[in-house]
Amino acid sequence: MTASAGPGLATAAPLVLGIETSCDETGVGLVRGHELLADAVASSVDEHARFGGVVPEVASRAHLEAMVPTVQRALDAAGVTLAQVDAIAVTAGPGLAGALLVGVCAAKAYALALDKPLYGVNHLAAHVAVDRLEHGPLPAPAVALLVSGGHSSLLLVPDVATEIVPLGATIDDAAGEAFDKVARVLGLPFPGGPHIDRAAGSGGDADFVPFPRAKYRDGTSDFSFSGLKTAVARWVEAREAAGEPVPVADVAASFQEAVADVLTRKAVDACLAHGVEHLVIGGGVAANSRLRALAAQRCEAAGVRLRVPRPGLCTDNGAMVAALGAELLARGVAASAMDFPADSSLPVTAITATAGQRV
Ligand code: KG4
Ligand code: ZN
Repeated sequence: MTASAGPGLATAAPLVLGIETSCDETGVGLVRGHELLADAVASSVDEHARFGGVVPEVASRAHLEAMVPTVQRALDAAGVTLAQVDAIAVTAGPGLAGALLVGVCAAKAYALALDKPLYGVNHLAAHVAVDRLEHGPLPAPAVALLVSGGHSSLLLVPDVATEIVPLGATIDDAAGEAFDKVARVLGLPFPGGPHIDRAAGSGGDADFVPFPRAKYRDGTSDFSFSGLKTAVARWVEAREAAGEPVPVADVAASFQEAVADVLTRKAVDACLAHGVEHLVIGGGVAANSRLRALAAQRCEAAGVRLRVPRPGLCTDNGAMVAALGAELLARGVAASAMDFPADSSLPVTAITATAGQRV
């Protein structure tokens, strides 16, 4: 569990409470104006580790238990009270249905009790909006590369508060999912991304195995990571069958290179194709050190300006939801009707939830 407070700020700007429960992190953020005051996260990741993936019912129960204490921790870290909150934002989707429901119900309860406006927001848009907390107003338009355990998307973002256009997405596994599955093949713990990152960084040779780069130059903004995952598994199996040791650091580095290579090439290509100068990268996989380094290198070579939040704001958190809520409030976007549902497959084009969408 972590909680961190930002600097003391003028009290005139509205205070927004953000709640995130789409997967296994109960995140609560507090943003005043566009300044981050607190970012409290309670993760149930350890409870899922032995299953090798997130178990939805376990995540939902953990959110229930963590919700009120995490809200309190965020308030304490920010030095504010619930009564001072001016608006609430909550992830309405996409994500695990049961997990989303806990956050949405809690947020509705807080909004009703405090009589404050509530924004049901899109998790993917929040991953983009969070960068404002660190690097100032978002450039418009921008291209966003969102890579996490649940999604891998390239988006054209004319305006994060009002318009997001999907350019492409994975046709099979998400990038983070591939990291987690390959980690399992290599005997590394769940979630695998940080472990692969560390193993690769411990002297791994990225050229050791030339793993495939699917859809590398197919002219689309779509991705595919399932074949890469299988290629790693087959390579490791063959090595084991031959009675040879598996060079974990080298395989991790070679796999990571294949993912970072495709992601950064497609992201930069999308910027060039749409005449967009700014690329924002977000989602848990954006914490990957090789992805960050290669993106910086390729953006510089192509004349694209890169923005990536610090790793703690890339993985799921409440600050990103508060950041998007604050943006919507500042821009005068109407709050959500109180009967909006948790929508496990909320499309990225729906930046705020509206009543009557599917569950
Ligand atoms: O955004 P996130 O916290 O949750 C989802 O919305 O899925 O992303 C979690 C994913 C996991 O698959 C995890 O393995 C991956 O992000 N991840 C990383 C790194 N840190 C987290 N992948 C590669 N390198 C990392 N350093
Ligand atoms: Zn996410």
